[in-house]
Amino acid sequence: MRILVLGSGGREHALVWKLMQSPLVETLFAAPGNCGMEADGARLVPIDVQALDDIVRFARKEKIDLVVPGPELPLTLGVTDALRAAGIPSFGPDAYCARLEGSKSYAKAMMRKAGVPTAASSVVHSLQEGLAALDSMDCKGERVVVKADGLAAGKGVIVARSRKEAEEALAAMFSQRSFGSAGDTVVLEELLTGEEVSLLAFCDGHNAWPLPSAQDHKAAFDGDLGPNTGGMGAYSPCPRLVGDDVEHVADRTIRPIIRTLAEEGHPFVGILYAGLMLTESGPKVLEYNVRFGDPECQPLLMRLTSDLAEAMIACIEGKAPLLTLSEKVALGVVLAKEGYPGHYERGSRICGLDELAQIPEIKVFHSGTKKVGSDIVSDGGRILCVTGLGETLANARDLVYQALRGLSCEGSFFRKDIGAKGIRD
Ligand code: AMP
Ligand code: GLY
Repeated sequence: MRILVLGSGGREHALVWKLMQSPLVETLFAAPGNCGMEADGARLVPIDVQALDDIVRFARKEKIDLVVPGPELPLTLGVTDALRAAGIPSFGPDAYCARLEGSKSYAKAMMRKAGVPTAASSVVHSLQEGLAALDSMDCKGERVVVKADGLAAGKGVIVARSRKEAEEALAAMFSQRSFGSAGDTVVLEELLTGEEVSLLAFCDGHNAWPLPSAQDHKAAFDGDLGPNTGGMGAYSPCPRLVGDDVEHVADRTIRPIIRTLAEEGHPFVGILYAGLMLTESGPKVLEYNVRFGDPECQPLLMRLTSDLAEAMIACIEGKAPLLTLSEKVALGVVLAKEGYPGHYERGSRICGLDELAQIPEIKVFHSGTKKVGSDIVSDGGRILCVTGLGETLANARDLVYQALRGLSCEGSFFRKDIGAKGIRD
């Protein structure tokens, strides 16, 4: 098989690494990819993930058998539709289904239609409408979450713990237009409390096969402090969601959406990711993503012992994928550049990667890295994710933090408490 992976982050490096282990895979291209993927055998192609025409042209020319889009943007732009029109299979939903991630108001409407438990919410289109909606909430706007409707790289969500913060968030979206057109429509949502868990499922258009749970760490700093990022570390499984509960939660939060989309004539093929809050009154969906999470993908794929390419093809053909996972626990910690998720410098040399490559239970997935001569330097806010497999969560954590001691990159930082919530139990 000839495969094309779209994207250049740690998630896509993990996809490349796992796909390369499949005996079905003959040649693997990554567009635009990164130097970590290249070292694992991918051939890099300088095509942007948004350049749909170029992607289709390349896939045709290279007789690609399967395209695996990593990030949400090409999916919301319709890469699967464009590929399908050219007769090329893609492991990802069409643009219709990708609106689940591309529009938060659409996702809320779908949750209502499918009967999925979620926070009470209202949709507003102006500051005035927003202020009136705050007045009509039970909490009078004292504990709300203000969400820009469109894609905002994980930054368009403001958790407001007072009426003043809620008003400021509405002003940022409508008056200052901090999120551009993504903030033309805003979802106001009741603030939920509990622990957050990610549940990802392989979907064949009509059914869903959940992977074990994972837990992300979205805030930049220890103790969940600081601004929200794309994710600073993750582990799997999360002890809050294991055993039969995984299937029960998938029955309530993932399968109803898959059924509803199929009834609407748009079977969802790919990964559906439910971001959940485990509240006192049960799990509630905070958001849907229509792809693997980054960094959840890295620990999840480290646990996957079955063939990833085969599972993706099975879903595309409407068959049950074979998914087997190691009983071990995987944990990944992201090394980021100081300043991230705001402004940061590029070009710091990363030392110690060769030594880490010798540790069998550790894999370093690259995100923002670049090869300059014989050096590998930082080239993004999230630089890489050191991921390890251990007998227990504490083992995995100790392995990864020990490995991180062997890495150096000037002006970088990482959270010291990844996995702490799971070990506290
Ligand atoms: P989202 O992109 O909708 O998942 O929101 C990003 C983050 O904001 C989530 O991971 C939560 O930490 C937080 N968040 C979103 N919605 C809520 C909510 N209704 N209550 C509490 N926190 C929330
Ligand atoms: N780690 C969260 C996300 O991928 O959206």
